[in-house]
Amino acid sequence: MSVSESLPHDAARLHVTGAARYVDDIPVPRDTLHLAFGLSDIARGRITAMALAEVRRAPGVVAVLTAADLPHDADCSPSAHDEPLLSTGAIHYHGQPLFLVIATDHLAARRAAHLAVLTCAQEPPILTIDEALAADSRFEEGPRLWQKGDAAAAIAGAPHVVEGVIGIGGQEHFYLEGQAALALPQENGDMLVHASTQHPTEVQHKVADALGRPMHAVRVETRRMGGGFGGKESQANALAVACAVAAHVTGRPCKMRYDRDDDMAITGKRHDFRITYRAGFDNTGRLTGVEFVQYARCGWSQDLSLPVADRAMLHADNAYHLPAARIESHRLRTNTASATAFRGFGGPQGMVGIERVMDHIAHVLGLDPLAVRQRNYYAAAADGGLSAPHAPAARPPEGISRQMKPQTTPYGQVVEDFILHEMTTALVASSDYHARRDAVAAWNAANPVLKKGIALTPVKFGISFTLTHLNQAGALVHVYQDGSVAINHGGTEMGQGLFQKVAQVAAARFGLSQGAIRITATDTAKVPNTSATAASSGSDLNGMAVRAACDTIRERMAEFLAEYHQQRPDEVVFAGGAVQAGAHRLSFAEAARLCYEHRISLSSTGFYKTPGLAWDRIRGQGRPFFYFAYGAAVTEVVIDTLSGENRILRADILHDCGTSLNPALDIGQIEGGYVQGAGWLTTEELVWDAAGRLRTHAPSTYKIPAFSDRPEVFNVALWDAGNRAETIYRSKAVGEPPLMLGISALMALSDAVAACGPGYPALDAPATPERILRAVERQRGCGGV
Ligand code: MTE
Ligand code: MOS
Repeated sequence: MSVSESLPHDAARLHVTGAARYVDDIPVPRDTLHLAFGLSDIARGRITAMALAEVRRAPGVVAVLTAADLPHDADCSPSAHDEPLLSTGAIHYHGQPLFLVIATDHLAARRAAHLAVLTCAQEPPILTIDEALAADSRFEEGPRLWQKGDAAAAIAGAPHVVEGVIGIGGQEHFYLEGQAALALPQENGDMLVHASTQHPTEVQHKVADALGRPMHAVRVETRRMGGGFGGKESQANALAVACAVAAHVTGRPCKMRYDRDDDMAITGKRHDFRITYRAGFDNTGRLTGVEFVQYARCGWSQDLSLPVADRAMLHADNAYHLPAARIESHRLRTNTASATAFRGFGGPQGMVGIERVMDHIAHVLGLDPLAVRQRNYYAAAADGGLSAPHAPAARPPEGISRQMKPQTTPYGQVVEDFILHEMTTALVASSDYHARRDAVAAWNAANPVLKKGIALTPVKFGISFTLTHLNQAGALVHVYQDGSVAINHGGTEMGQGLFQKVAQVAAARFGLSQGAIRITATDTAKVPNTSATAASSGSDLNGMAVRAACDTIRERMAEFLAEYHQQRPDEVVFAGGAVQAGAHRLSFAEAARLCYEHRISLSSTGFYKTPGLAWDRIRGQGRPFFYFAYGAAVTEVVIDTLSGENRILRADILHDCGTSLNPALDIGQIEGGYVQGAGWLTTEELVWDAAGRLRTHAPSTYKIPAFSDRPEVFNVALWDAGNRAETIYRSKAVGEPPLMLGISALMALSDAVAACGPGYPALDAPATPERILRAVERQRGCGGV
C-alpha cells in the first residue's frame, strides 16, 4: 500500500459506536475508591484552620488527606517544582486543591469535599496584567528581550508609524473527555497508572517522586485521550499523583475524574496576552522596523509559561521579514489557574500581534491588507520551496518581485523554505478573493445594517520543541511468528490520528496492509524517556523511530532469506503482503515463521533525533526549528451592526502538510484547527470576577463553536509539495499550525467593523458580539466604550 492513503482513523469505528475505551471506561476492581479535591474558595491568602471532621464523617468517605498526610513531597509541576499537589498553607488561586477526599464512589467524594470548614487569612489577589505589573509579580527576573538591528532608529526614520495595543483572551481546552486517572497498586509497592495524558513519562516521573520510588516501579499506560489540545501536557499530573498516593495509602485501586466545572476551575488554559506595538513603514506598506511588548498572564505557577512565552516571541514575525525588530516579553504571575500549553503554544498570540500590525498599516495607507501582507512576506525560497520529486513546477508569484537572497528571522534562523508567495497566489485564485473583496465593498455601500468583511491571513509555524533535547523519540516493534505486527512508540493518541499515520509507515516498510498492524497503547514500560506528544511533532518523531525499528527487523529478515534462497539481501523485496527473494515468493506470514524457526530476532527498538538544531533562548539566537509549516486562509464574515451578532459565511484554506501521510486525517486537523482558532478569537470568552473566581466554568457560560458555527462554505485544500527537510516520507507536522488560520476570522470581523466609519477598529479578541457592537459604536462616533 502507499503510505499516503486517506485511510480512516484506526479507532474511528470505536469512536462512533461508543466502544472506544477511555480511562473512565476501564473496568475496575470492585474495591476501587474514588477521589475528589476540596478546592479553595478564595484566590489568595493562607489557610489558618481547616476543619475536616464533617468531611470524614460523610457517607462513603474512607479517608481524607491533607498535604501533611502525604508520604513524600508530591509535586505536580512540569518545570519549577512549584506545584504541591495539595496546598501547604498558601493559597494561590480560586479552585486550588487543598485536601483530597477518598470515598467509595465518585459522587460521595464530591459531596463530602464541600463539607470542609476553612478559615483563611485573605490577601488581595493579583488578577490582571495591570495588577501584576504594578506589583512586579512575574516569573524570571525581568522581561526577556530579543533584538534584531535597531528597531527604534528604523521606526524613527520611517515615513509612517502606527502604534497600538491588542488584548487577546485565553482559551479553555474543552477536551470532550475531562481529566481522568486510575491507579492500581501492584505487588512490592509498584504502581500501574492509566492516565489521560499527553505525557506518560512525566506522569511516571511525578508519581515515582510522590511515592518515593524509582521510575521503574511505576508504569503508566495511555491508550487514548478524548482530546488534549495541550491541556493534558502537564495538567494530568495532579490526578495521576493523587490516585497513586491514595492507592498507596489505602492499598486499593483509586480513580479520579474531574467534573466539568471543577476541570475548568482547577486546570490551566491558554495564556491571555496584551501586545503593544509600534511599527515604521514606507508608502507601500513595507515595514522598516517593529517593536512589540508582549504581556503574558501566566497564573500562579510556572508550568510551561516560559517556553510558551518564548514561542510567542518566536512567532512575532509570522510570515513577514522584519528588517529590524525589538521583542520584549513579560511573564506575569497572577492568582489565577496556571496557564498552560494550548495548541500553538504561544505562537498564535505572537502571530495575532503582527497580523494586527499588517491590518493597521493597510488601514492607514488605504491599501488592501493582502497587498501589505504580500509585500512584507519573506523572500521566496530559491526553488519556490518545491524540492520534492512529485512537486509541481514552481510558479512565479504574480506581481511580486522575487528576492533570491534568503532572509533571517528576528532570532537569526535563515528562512529557506518559504512557499507562501505561491500558496497565496493559488488561494487568491481558488477563493476568488479579489472579486469577493469588491463584492463585499459593494454590499457594504448598499447595506446600512448588515456589514461584511473579508481577510486573508497566512501562517508560518516553526516545527520542533524549542527545548532541543525533547526532539527525540523511541519505538518498539514486534513481528509475531504468524506475520502480525505490533507497534509501539512514545507518542500518545488524542484524536489527531497519530497512531494511524505511524501504522501506515510501518505497513509501508513491511509491504503489508493496514490490517496486519496492531497499534498498542502508549506504555512507559515499552518505550522509556519519551517527550510529551506536543509541538505537533508526534508523527515527525515517532514516525521516524518506528521506521527505524521496522527497518532493523526487515534487514534481518532480508539477510536471512537471501542466504536461505541464495540471493543478495537487496534482492529481497517486501511488497503486497509478500516477501520476494529472487524467484522465491513467500507470504509475509510464511517469511516470519521461517525467520522465527531459524532463530532470527523479530523484535526491535528504534530511535530518532531531529538533526541540525541549535538554540540559545536567553540570547534569542539560533536555529530552534527544523522547518516551517505554512498555510493561508480567507474568511468572509457578516456582522449585524445593531446587535453585534456575526457569522462566518465562508472560509477557504490552503494548507501545507508536505507530502501528507494521510490527506483525510490532515484535512480533519485543518478543519478542526481552524474552527478552534476562530472560536478562540470570537466566541470563547473567559471571565474572572473581582474575587478571582472563574465565572465561565461550564458550556452554559463558555461558548465553544457548535456545528452550526462552522462556516457555511468551507473549502480546504492541501498544498501538494514535499517537505524540503528530510522528514518521514517528506510529510509536515499539522497538529497546531491550522489553529492560526482562524486569525483570518478576527481580521475579517475587523474589516466588517471598519466599514462602519473612518477610524481603525482596534478590535480586541475574543471579538464577541458585545465587543463588536462597542467597536461599531466607536466607528460611528456614538460614544461607545
Ligand atoms: N487533534 C485532536 N483531534 N485532538 C487533540 O487533542 N491536539 C493538538 C493537535 N491536534 C489535538 C489535535 C495539539 S495541541 C498538538 S501539539 C498535536 O495535535 C499533537 O499531536 P501530533 O504531534 O501528533 O500532531
Ligand atoms: Mo500541543 S499545545 O503542543 O500539546
